[in-house]
Amino acid sequence: MKGVVAALGLLGVQQFAAAQSSTAKPTICPIHGQQFPAPTGLAKETGFYTFTQEIEDTIKANLTNAPFNETTFSLGMFSTTDDGLLYEYHHTDPTVANSTAGTQKVDANSIYRIASITKILTVYLWLIKDGDRRFNDPITDFLPELKQANEVAQQYATPDWEEVTVGDLAMYLAGAARDYGLNDVALKGYVTSLLPPLAEEELPNNPANGINVAASEDPVCGFFTANLSYSPCSRDVYLSHIGTLAASFPSGYTPLYSNANFALLGLALSSLVGQSEEEIFDQHLVKPLGLNGTTFSNPSDVTKNSVVPSGDLQKSGWKNALGPLDGAAGAFSTTNDLAAIGKSILNSTLTSKAVTRRWFTSTTLNERNDQAVGRGWEIFKQRVNGHSVDLYTKSGNWGVYASVIFLIPSYNFGFSILTAGNSGKLPEVLSNTLVENLLPALEDIAKQQADRNFAGHFSSEKSNTSITVTTDDWPALKVTQFVANGIDLLDSVFALFGKDIDFRLLPSHLYKGNQVGFSGVYQPPSPPAPADEFYWPCQTWLDIDDFTYANVPLGHLVFEVDESGRACSLQAKALRETLQRKQV
Ligand SMILES: *[C@@H]1O[C@H](CO)[C@@H](O)[C@H](O)[C@H]1NC(C)=O
Ligand SMILES: *[C@@H]1O[C@H](CO)[C@@H](O)[C@H](O)[C@H]1NC(C)=O
Ligand SMILES: *[C@@H]1O[C@H](CO)[C@@H](O)[C@H](O)[C@H]1NC(C)=O
Ligand SMILES: *[C@@H]1O[C@H](CO)[C@@H](O)[C@H](O)[C@H]1NC(C)=O
Ligand SMILES: *[C@@H]1O[C@H](CO)[C@@H](O)[C@H](O)[C@H]1NC(C)=O
Ligand SMILES: *[C@@H]1O[C@H](CO)[C@@H](O)[C@H](O)[C@H]1NC(C)=O
Ligand SMILES: *[C@@H]1O[C@H](CO)[C@@H](O)[C@H](O)[C@H]1NC(C)=O
Repeated sequence: MKGVVAALGLLGVQQFAAAQSSTAKPTICPIHGQQFPAPTGLAKETGFYTFTQEIEDTIKANLTNAPFNETTFSLGMFSTTDDGLLYEYHHTDPTVANSTAGTQKVDANSIYRIASITKILTVYLWLIKDGDRRFNDPITDFLPELKQANEVAQQYATPDWEEVTVGDLAMYLAGAARDYGLNDVALKGYVTSLLPPLAEEELPNNPANGINVAASEDPVCGFFTANLSYSPCSRDVYLSHIGTLAASFPSGYTPLYSNANFALLGLALSSLVGQSEEEIFDQHLVKPLGLNGTTFSNPSDVTKNSVVPSGDLQKSGWKNALGPLDGAAGAFSTTNDLAAIGKSILNSTLTSKAVTRRWFTSTTLNERNDQAVGRGWEIFKQRVNGHSVDLYTKSGNWGVYASVIFLIPSYNFGFSILTAGNSGKLPEVLSNTLVENLLPALEDIAKQQADRNFAGHFSSEKSNTSITVTTDDWPALKVTQFVANGIDLLDSVFALFGKDIDFRLLPSHLYKGNQVGFSGVYQPPSPPAPADEFYWPCQTWLDIDDFTYANVPLGHLVFEVDESGRACSLQAKALRETLQRKQV
């Protein structure tokens, strides 16, 4: 652990950087995480209303352009402190308006195929049933069939299944088992039907065509035929073939998108719990959250809520039964149900808070700095107000259905976009537009609420101790004055880091009820490091709450709030003193 001494040692580096580029404006480097408490009651915030009106105007202005004009879609936004949906927008295109099956006008109860969003539900069910304690266990503990597969020697490298953990599968890190059969071109099917004629003719039908691979090696299931019917595998056939599928990398090395990783996770959960995946899904997700449009696999009936473009159950992909792939891509859901699921994840309704925090932080780096991979999550980092916000997302594509869910723990907010259309482009196009405007809106509201609730002057009735808190142009609440019994701490203790110390408060999430806790983060502002300087330009996390007083960090502050969330007093835990808010 780096203490004060190490931290002070690093000060020299900052001052050197400052001398190098004295023209650049000094700034602070925030720590990773929430800068203000998540906003609450968004439905009553005019800033949020303005944002949704802008989004609605943009959508309406684009309804005659592709992909909007060729897609049926439902957009729903939600937060953990507002009931139901905060905002919804639905558009029905002619293929659904004129459909002979299912709904002719979509709404928040319309049922879409959500495809690979199922991966999140499979991880979620594992966390609900068993937490993440077994994430370092080898998958062969749950699926011994995979160990048997290793006993048969192959002429190519196969995964060492005893090295592949549950966590590797959940993080796309198995390095193997992308899919069995799905895109195999040794076989005449949907994929070969897309090839130039010679390739379509010659590649399949080995060995008659001269490619020396026995036809018995061809996939027997797990692929689309040219007419878009999917032939599901049985569990045992699937496991034996996934077991011997060649690897691309060793496990734990680099993320590699895989349906089979999540199919295996679902099958393993079923064996751990001793129930079918569908029973676990219904009992531990559908029932506790009161979902009424969400199923683990194909709904048995087409109802007034089903979204089936052109009434074509086959071409739309509605009726593809996926067999063991259900845990990766089988589920169907609605805008309302995804909001309930998203809120329950953000709010730790069905898991412990510690498990949720780990679900939102366990990530693998990706090639780009603004992308990462989590347990089921496709993660994007976006900047707003001088800091970054992590967007936990999962997309899904099957047949004409393309969808995405976003969860943003920093704001306890999320949204889903469910679509049916040929291009599959709408979730991407709409997410880009939406997030660009969403983050500044949520950040603004969070800052305004933090200012209203916590900014002010707090002082002791007994001693000359006081703290002044404010907001400014930078992220997080700022402490502009901190006096302990007549000693100006910013000018003395904290000034050891630099005369111009910048002291901020970050939500600590350590207190409950009417207490809202913060932790201190301090640094002298410095000019941004030159582009060629990578070593420690942003070292704030080395110095969180460095200075303690009798075992409690000086920045460990706890506000006591009234029912409206406004602070009445402030406990300086280190000084063991409660300061009262002074009227201004
Ligand atoms: C919507 O249309 C406007 C112009 O009408 C265009 O600038 C914008 O990029 C479009 N947005 C989307 C999401 O397609
Ligand atoms: C949708 O709009 C595009 C132009 O953006 C156009 O080329 C296309 O024909 C339209 N599709 C339909 C079904 O109207
Ligand atoms: C989230 O949790 C809080 C406190 O535990 C509770 O008051 C609130 O109703 C929950 N919200 C949802 C949507 O579950
Ligand atoms: C449904 O189809 C009919 C006939 O093809 C067409 O005239 C009508 O405009 C369509 N309805 C909608 C809502 O697109
Ligand atoms: C699709 O093709 C498969 C195999 O070629 C065949 O068994 C099935 O009947 C076809 N389905 C339809 C709806 O044409
Ligand atoms: C789910 O419940 C809502 C109202 O609570 C209802 O409007 C909707 O039709 C239901 N969905 C299904 C699939 O039954
Ligand atoms: C309280 O302490 C501050 C900071 O040292 C000092 O400026 C101020 O005069 C003191 N006030 C009283 C009433 O002693």
